[in-house]
Parts: sequence; C-alpha cells; structure tokens
Amino acid sequence: LTPPLASTDEPGTNASWYARLKAVTPRAFAPAPIFAHRARNSEIWDVEGKRYIDFYGGIGVLNVGHRHPMVMKRIREMEKRLLHTCAQVICYPEYVQLAEKLAVIAPGPTPKKLMFFNSGAEAVENAIKVARAATGRDGVIAFDAAFHGRTYMTSALTGKNLPYKKGFRIAMPGVFHVPFPSAYHGISEADSLKALEQRFRSDILPEDVAAIIIEPEQGEGGFNPAPLSFMKALRELCDRHGILLICDEVQSGIGRTGKWFAIEHSGIEPDLMTTAKSLGDGLPISGVIGKASIMDKPEVSALGGTYGGNPLSCAAALGVIEAVQAGGLLDRATAIGDRIRSRFTRLAEELPVIGDVRGLGAMVAVELVKDKQTKEPATALVKDVIARAREQGLLLLSCGPDSNAIRFLMPLTIKNRTLDEGFDIFERVLRESLAAQSGQ
Ligand SMILES: Cc1ncc(COP(=O)(O)O)c(C=O)c1O
Repeated sequence: LTPPLASTDEPGTNASWYARLKAVTPRAFAPAPIFAHRARNSEIWDVEGKRYIDFYGGIGVLNVGHRHPMVMKRIREMEKRLLHTCAQVICYPEYVQLAEKLAVIAPGPTPKKLMFFNSGAEAVENAIKVARAATGRDGVIAFDAAFHGRTYMTSALTGKNLPYKKGFRIAMPGVFHVPFPSAYHGISEADSLKALEQRFRSDILPEDVAAIIIEPEQGEGGFNPAPLSFMKALRELCDRHGILLICDEVQSGIGRTGKWFAIEHSGIEPDLMTTAKSLGDGLPISGVIGKASIMDKPEVSALGGTYGGNPLSCAAALGVIEAVQAGGLLDRATAIGDRIRSRFTRLAEELPVIGDVRGLGAMVAVELVKDKQTKEPATALVKDVIARAREQGLLLLSCGPDSNAIRFLMPLTIKNRTLDEGFDIFERVLRESLAAQSGQ
C-alpha cells in the first residue's frame, strides 16, 4: 500500500492538529485525537500515515465503503454538469431517477412518494410534519433509548438525556416515550405494549396521536432489533387508532441488515419511513418515503429546503444503489453478520464479559457486562477497548444507554481478510484490557 502524501498543503501531526482543533472548537465537539488524510473501502489513513481498519463506517454511512468506484464515477459525471440549482426551484433528472428507484425499493405494495433532505434529523422532522398534516393530530410517541437526531423536535423524540438534551430545554408538547422491547434487558413486548396503553390512559388519547416513530433496530440505543411480532402488533394498534407508523431507517437502512430496509424482516408496511446515512456514501442526503396519499397531504410548497437532494448527493445515491445491486451487498450483509456472530458467540463462551451478541444481518453489537447474571454495564471496559483498538489500528464505536456495547458498522464491501484482521485486533485488545483491569 502506498504511504499517504502530505495531509494538506500544510504539514502537521495528529497532536498538532488536535491542539489547534481544541483551540478553535467548543468542548461539545469531541472527535478522537487522530486526523484522517484519506480512505479507501474499509481502511482509513491518518495524517501520519498510520492505517486503520474501519469498523464504524462514519457511523453507518459507508455500507458501500469509502469512495466506492461506482459512486465516484457518478459524482465525477455530475460535477462536470451541476452543483446546485435548488431542487424546489429547478429540478434535474437524477432527483427523479433516485426517487423512482427508492419508491420501488421501499417495502410494501402501496404506491409511494418521496422527498429528499440533507440529514437524518431533517428527514425525521419532515416525517413528523407530514404525519401531523395528514392526521390533524399533534401527539408523537417514541421509544426509550431511541435516537432520532439533534434538532429540537428530533432531540425531543430521542430517548436519552445525556449527552443529547442537558441544558438545551428540549421538552416538546405532545411527545411521549415508552420502553423499547429488549429481551436481554428484561423488557418484554407485552411490557412495551402495556406502557403504550398506559400512555393512552394517562397522557394522551390515541385519537390525538399523529404517529408512533420507531427504529426497527435501535442504532445509538444499543442495536436492539424490535421483535417482528412487536412490529406487527404496532401496525395493528396504529391501524385501530388511525395513528401513522413511522420507521426511522436512517441507520438500519440501505442494506445493513441484509434487506434494503430493516422493517422488511417483519413483513409490515410503514406509513412513512426515513432514510439517510448510507444512502449517500458520505454525501449528505436523506429522504422521507411514504404512502403517496399521506405524502400528498401537506400544502403545495410546504416542504423543502435550499439543498435537499442536491445534484451531487442524488448522483452519489444512484451510485450507491448500483453498488449494492452489483456487489450483491444484501447477501453480503447477511454473511458478514453470520461471521461476526459466530466469532463472538464462540468468544463469549470463554469470556463471560461478553453478555450478548445481537442484531439483524450485519447490524450487530457485542454488549460487555461486568457480570453475566446482573448484566451490570462494563462501560469503562468498553471505553478502554475502543482506545486500545484505535492505538492498534482498528476504529470502533460504542452504543447503548450505558455505552457498554460495541457496534459493528464496517463497510459491507470489506474483504474477509480485513474483517478477520479487525476481529483479531478486537479480541486481542479485549484480552489486554481485561488483563489490565484484573491487574489493577
Ligand atoms: C436512527 C437515526 N435517526 C436519525 C439520526 C440523525 O441523523 P443525522 O445525524 O444525519 O441528523 C440518526 C443518526 O445517528 C439515527 O441513527
């Protein structure tokens, strides 16, 4: 592999860039103390030329890998013709082509319409607007530990106070939370449904609820997949009360779980869906996909934004869809998931610190606990493992309400030998970290 060139025109080390970063950015912005120079597929090189295996994929953005050739080709073609028109003033064919493709890919037989935005949060915001316009109701029910973004509405929907809400005065009228079913954490489907009924009794009448929003597999919340029977029960409950079911597929979509969208595993059709992250392979694009009759409810020109679905992002997303299809990446996601599960369930037999290995397809997390019985979160251990892994050239990310799970979001285009190399580093640093702990 060729060593990197100078990082920019300006030379610098990780430490020197970090010192400069800290001087000009607030503490709320807290990246790792290394600086990326370039990346290809499932590898990143920092400004000092050190190579890292990427198991976090820009937080679920790189299902087709860094700078996939099909995406780059599309971007280069588009860059010669258009950077911006503002799609809501003058549109372009790629916007339409992308919308047509996603309308077909989206689950369920009902005809779909969709619109593009910039970020996951913006998609969620707009899904809520559509749901309120379509129902004439205010209420929105979300789940504990959910993550829906950092704008005001999406922070309100997010079911985790720290670090997302503290000091921001987030409370939003009409937003309520119920527990997300998680067998490992002792919350059954029946518990969640009972909590929902309780909300209807004590906080908001079901006829005042516009939408229930759920991640079919929680991302930030710990890679908990909702049981398929729970999704069916939610669908029935929504139908009974005229509530719209919104699936937030920002992290779980675009092939991650072995299907285009995670909700396909349950066989139900949501009324509205959000997509973002891996849709653009790094270029900012998100979308709200919904049943056509619902999407048509807001007034003419009521939805939009200056940059939503900009030409480069639409071009990149068309390249992503081609790359998923050409690379057989849905099947590959299933195969990667199997490989992670078999490696870590085997390791769990030896290391009791591995409490759970879970997730659909390649959206898998390993939860570390101090004790298999009490399931007390091993948060400090996870932090240490992530730091040691970075030292040894593997980039990992935690998740879960106690940040004690490590989530795997490596590109689905990763080679088996790189995958195994990453697993080996993970296993080695976990053993080192445990040894260091017991030596303390
Ligand atoms: C399920 C889900 N929804 C929404 C968001 C927010 O997306 P963005 O950071 O692009 O606003 C995220 C981001 O992690 C997410 O995982």
